[in-house]
Amino acid sequence: MVDAFGRPSTPPAGLRWSAATAAFQIEGARHGDGRGRSIWDDFVDTPGQVVDATTAEPGPASYEHFAEDIALLQGLGVDRYRFSISWVRVQPDGRGKPEPRGIAYYDRLVDGLLEVGITPFPTLYHWDLPATLEADGGWLVRDTAERFAEYTEIVAAALGDRVKHWYTINEPISTALQGYAIGELAPGRQLLFDALPAVHHQLLAHGLATGVLRQHGADAVGIVNNHTWVRPATDSEADQTAAHLYDLIHNRLFADPVLTGNYPDLRPLGVDLPIQDGDMDIIATASDFYGVNFYNPTTIAAAPADAPVPFVQVPTPGVAHTGFGELWPIDPAALTAFLTEAARRYGDRLPPIIIGENGASFPEPDAVDAPIRDSDRVAYLAGHIGAVADAITQGVRIEEYTVWSLLDNFEWADGFTQRFGLVHVDHETSKRTPKRSYDWYRTLIAESRR
Ligand code: FCB
Repeated sequence: MVDAFGRPSTPPAGLRWSAATAAFQIEGARHGDGRGRSIWDDFVDTPGQVVDATTAEPGPASYEHFAEDIALLQGLGVDRYRFSISWVRVQPDGRGKPEPRGIAYYDRLVDGLLEVGITPFPTLYHWDLPATLEADGGWLVRDTAERFAEYTEIVAAALGDRVKHWYTINEPISTALQGYAIGELAPGRQLLFDALPAVHHQLLAHGLATGVLRQHGADAVGIVNNHTWVRPATDSEADQTAAHLYDLIHNRLFADPVLTGNYPDLRPLGVDLPIQDGDMDIIATASDFYGVNFYNPTTIAAAPADAPVPFVQVPTPGVAHTGFGELWPIDPAALTAFLTEAARRYGDRLPPIIIGENGASFPEPDAVDAPIRDSDRVAYLAGHIGAVADAITQGVRIEEYTVWSLLDNFEWADGFTQRFGLVHVDHETSKRTPKRSYDWYRTLIAESRR
């Protein structure tokens, strides 16, 4: 097959295939079976936080309809399913007593996947911190990392006999920067650089959880970071400095500690992290893979002198963009550039990469009678799978590719306005209708195994 960018879209045989979702985005049933409140319940219940005032319900309602999800995954032929576990279903108060009915849901999901030969590959934390822990300081305080280790112990004891592959934390950057620094995501704090402790405590939580999972016989454990390829808007020294700072904050602040045991030099930003003795060894506990979520490159210009942060994101010239607007440009070559640069920078310290999320939203109707012909999404996915293939050809070790998302779902502060699914979901009725991209991905997977 040749993709819309004119490259072969069938990558080397041996790459594993997956599709992803996250608990709060698909499960619904926010008040069911003893589930506690998370920061996302508080966020969606606060007027003005979600653009369309939706609350993630009904949406795909996977708490009820998970068997349909498993059938869709089986139809695709994926090797694995990336879903996330809701902390507040399993441990409603974020500390203390587990909730057996919450655990039973994940038992059913895991068993259903294994029955059809799909490897369950859960994420322990996809942004839904228990509200009780946020009230005590959330990720700004160290205790939350300890609480995460305790929650991990509960989950591993319950599922570790059948689940051997684990993502610890999804995109700590999004929680720290969008959640605590600028307030676009839960918990909606606006602390700017004072949000940085949330970086350290999430990474510490990742390291502590890795140890717990290994004690429970895990085969593969890793974090999944959001990465971008940063370019200066112009050759000016000011833009180049700004782009360098942005790269430090977006990419290296999260990759360096996990892969090298050191944070990058943050002195240019005049900030410090609450590191205690031994923390960096815990954070750099060897991982079996390095998870990379990649959506788009980022073009950065210097901010005006009186701005609160020294950089500003500007549109990337000369490329199309997704339904999320001009700050989500489509540029698959940027993924190859990121992957090859990561392999160069981290060398032997970089374990095999798993692409944990990649995908795009485009404007699509809320209700459909027939499969949507989502050729923009097919072109996006084909281009990025081609970009992964290019990186492999250049020697980067990549084991797995994951589409975000299996289903249209609740896109956080954007509510139901952004559709990323291979499968259309009517968010009123929860009806699932595979799109053309679903058939395309299924064919690609089948062809890659020939
Ligand atoms: C990622 C999130 C995921 C989804 C996609 C579009 O940053 O991890 O939950 O919202 O973006």
